[in-house]
Amino acid sequence: MRILNNLIQNVISHSHADKIELALSEQNRNIKILLSDNGIGIDKEDLKHIFDRLYKCDKGRSEKGSGLGLSIVHELVEKLNGTITADSIPGKGTIFTLFSL
Ligand SMILES: Nc1ncnc2c1ncn2[C@@H]1O[C@H](COP(=O)(O)OP(=O)(O)O)[C@@H](O)[C@H]1O
Ligand SMILES: [Mg+2]
Repeated sequence: MRILNNLIQNVISHSHADKIELALSEQNRNIKILLSDNGIGIDKEDLKHIFDRLYKCDKGRSEKGSGLGLSIVHELVEKLNGTITADSIPGKGTIFTLFSL
């Protein structure tokens, strides 16, 4: 719940998307979760750091948020022996892919 909540909250507060897609499936007996939005996306340089503690991409703006959400997500996913990756096309959207046991 915490993982999905943090990811969805980010779509709401950062992405400016009008569409969000959540897909759950099973792959090789693992759970696969895809969460995508059609928002502003994340620059390639920022994408390398989004799971870092306190990292915020929109430094110029005084947007709410601590920069902790995705580092917590990353920690929780690791505790579940899972993996999480983020891909994005600026201007098109962002997709988070989770695999877990
Ligand atoms: N779906 C998204 N679309 C665009 N930017 C995002 C998205 N999710 C996260 N981000 C960017 O990643 C940064 C880090 O997210 P997070 O660790 O949750 O910190 P916070 O939400 O507190 O700023 C955010 O500040 C935001 O710029
Ligand atoms: Mg957040």
